[in-house]
Amino acid sequence: MVLKEASAYLGVWLLCTLIPPLLTDEAVILPAPPDLSVHSTNMKHILTWSPVIVPGETVNYSVEYQGEYERYYTSSHWIPSSWCSSISTPECNVTDDITATVAYNFRVKAILGTQSSAWSTLKELFNRNSTVLTSPRMKIIKDGYHLIVEFEDMGPYFEFNVTYWKKSPNSQELYKIVREGGSLEHLVTMEAGAEYCVKAQTVVEIIERSSAFNQVECIRAQDESHLLALVLFSSTGLILLVVGLPLFIWKMSQLLRYSCCPVVVLPDTLKITDSPQKLISCKKEDIETCDTVVRVMYSEELFRSWIQETL
Ligand SMILES: *[C@@H]1O[C@H](CO)[C@@H](O)[C@H](O)[C@H]1NC(C)=O
Ligand SMILES: *[C@@H]1O[C@H](CO)[C@@H](O)[C@H](O)[C@H]1NC(C)=O
Ligand SMILES: *[C@@H]1O[C@H](CO)[C@@H](O)[C@H](O)[C@H]1NC(C)=O
Ligand SMILES: *[C@@H]1O[C@H](CO)[C@@H](O)[C@H](O)[C@H]1NC(C)=O
Repeated sequence: MVLKEASAYLGVWLLCTLIPPLLTDEAVILPAPPDLSVHSTNMKHILTWSPVIVPGETVNYSVEYQGEYERYYTSSHWIPSSWCSSISTPECNVTDDITATVAYNFRVKAILGTQSSAWSTLKELFNRNSTVLTSPRMKIIKDGYHLIVEFEDMGPYFEFNVTYWKKSPNSQELYKIVREGGSLEHLVTMEAGAEYCVKAQTVVEIIERSSAFNQVECIRAQDESHLLALVLFSSTGLILLVVGLPLFIWKMSQLLRYSCCPVVVLPDTLKITDSPQKLISCKKEDIETCDTVVRVMYSEELFRSWIQETL
């Protein structure tokens, strides 16, 4: 009896003497990271939490997840997240971990040296069907009379439901599903001068949801009368060029010839009565002097004399 009491006292004494040092050792018991939540936009899922602060130390975190299958059939087995074991940022991209449209749970613990905190889990399970879908960014392009649309590439699950119509009374809306972003899609061959409008929404079939429609964008097809005017204008230009250029060249050559070898009516007294032979040699000389004249002539003078010639 006495022995029993003594051992009980000893036990209490041991507890009282041993625990306080243990407590002081664990004075910095690492708290579990609080405020877990999943932010999901356009099927990209980011798990965040509030950081655990230990002055002068870097706290790391590890993330694990559990889908419906693990929860119900593998006795609550947890799987380490693909990218987030011992990371120092208080967020984790869990997009690649979520592969089914079922309820997922996540848990995070803080790690400091050899210490680990308890796990903290999501307050509400996460299903990717709650992702926020933004309306798509699109570009409409006019290639001649072809109306072409292009969407940004938003990843493998995204399709685009395009609605388009000709802007005129009692015209019908038309639909087209564009299977992927990042490529050019022909919508319609437009009528000349008509205006066409386009709007679109994203559709994600695996979660059976779609976004709101984006802003309507309109574009006007080329007008045929404009085209006609253009053709007329350019052909007139061509005709002017075809006729005008030879005329100009002819005029220039005339000018050169006149400034070179002006036709002067010689007085009778100066008329050559010699043999043709002599005449030729004279002409030769004449031409040579002409050449010299041409070389010293300034372009300004040339121009002035040409103007005079023309007028
Ligand atoms: C803590 O995280 C950083 C950055 O992710 C890493 O480089 C470092 O090795 C981690 N520390 C431990 C103890 O795992
Ligand atoms: C998250 O991961 C996905 C898939 O690997 C990637 O497409 C996306 O850009 C990442 N998001 C961020 C914010 O890093
Ligand atoms: C997501 O799926 C769950 C289970 O199938 C369903 O109960 C919930 O209403 C869905 N939520 C949305 C936003 O579609
Ligand atoms: C596409 O949008 C139209 C409304 O403009 C809607 O009637 C149709 O059901 C949508 N299609 C899909 C596959 O969502």
